Amino acid sequence: MRGKYKVAIVGSSGLVGRTVLRILEEKNFPNVIYTLFSSKNSANKKVSFLGEDYVFCELKEDSFNSNFDFAIFCAGGKVSKKYAPIAVSKGCIVIDNSSIFRMSPNVPLVVPEVNSEDIFKNKGIIANPNCSTIQAVLPLKALDEAYSIKRIVYSTYQAVSGAGRLGIEDLETKASNNSLKKFPYPIHNNCLPHIDIFTEDGYTKEEHKMIDETRKILKKPNLPITATCIRVPVTNCHCESINVEFDKDFDLYDVRILLQNFPGILVSDNIEKNQYPIPTKVNGNDEVFIGRIRRDYSVKYGLNLWVVADNLRKGAATNAVQILEKLIYA
Ligand SMILES: NC(=O)c1ccc[n+]([C@@H]2O[C@H](COP(=O)([O-])OP(=O)(O)OC[C@H]3O[C@@H](n4cnc5c(N)ncnc54)[C@H](OP(=O)(O)O)[C@@H]3O)[C@@H](O)[C@H]2O)c1
Repeated sequence: MRGKYKVAIVGSSGLVGRTVLRILEEKNFPNVIYTLFSSKNSANKKVSFLGEDYVFCELKEDSFNSNFDFAIFCAGGKVSKKYAPIAVSKGCIVIDNSSIFRMSPNVPLVVPEVNSEDIFKNKGIIANPNCSTIQAVLPLKALDEAYSIKRIVYSTYQAVSGAGRLGIEDLETKASNNSLKKFPYPIHNNCLPHIDIFTEDGYTKEEHKMIDETRKILKKPNLPITATCIRVPVTNCHCESINVEFDKDFDLYDVRILLQNFPGILVSDNIEKNQYPIPTKVNGNDEVFIGRIRRDYSVKYGLNLWVVADNLRKGAATNAVQILEKLIYA
């Protein structure tokens, strides 16, 4: 390991950015100097970080002139599209939270517990997958190795924090049609089958992200997958019902052991004690929680899982910081 690394956090004043700062405080890497970037809106505002007062700096075209080693981008696709290539051209490795580069063949899409070996194939940009994809691929990877996945059906129940600060505002203020800041309909007391924009085939972009990113991370480009993504009135933590069909038969006891032993997974499944993962219990944790593990009797080798994770932590910030950690300690 060499001397001090210079790391930029772009979008550090946002929901994901502030979660990145919290996780960096928890990790307390001894050999890193941080610079925190935001837009003009938050520039010059103070934030307490690592026991000191930091100031958000406005992101500008020359911001990467000062030899950053690594940057975590969490400021949305437009910012990544413009500034990530500038950062890379100055020798900085970018870990990007937006969806802009995820499907580019030259960009590794990484969940460290699943495919950390891909980190070192980067050409300057490493993409953090979509929050709902990250939590899904941990159990899927554990089971694919043993039983070979044949088909996946995703149904998601996604928290409003996944839509950023304005999503939380819409829920907390119980915004009605004329005061909504993020969603097309009130999210309070509601469920919206609509996350990100609709595409020509009737799916949403969020649903396509889950399908495409799962195939890329599991390295199964033709795997049949379908997805329905729903926004629900929960502040934080995405829930997913994952129905998976295998090529090979399995034993439920072995499935539990495989999941329990996979890094980053916690099995919470005891129906006699009403034990299963729920957002209020998972909130603030880094693991992916799994319960309701049961056979799907409608097909030959089918399994149902209930998967819950903190979308701001493992679904975004924790995953990005884990990648940074691998780069720093490589
Ligand atoms: N929320 C999630 O669960 C989640 C999960 C996975 C991935 N992501 C992705 O992470 C990214 C950030 O999401 P978020 O939920 O944190 O959004 P957010 O709460 O709305 O925060 C956006 C951040 O971007 C900054 N920003 C906006 N325009 C900028 C510009 N022109 N130059 C520099 N900074 C700019 C904002 O700075 P100001 O404070 O100055 O406005 C703020 O720090 C998005 O790409 C999102 O898709 C989010």
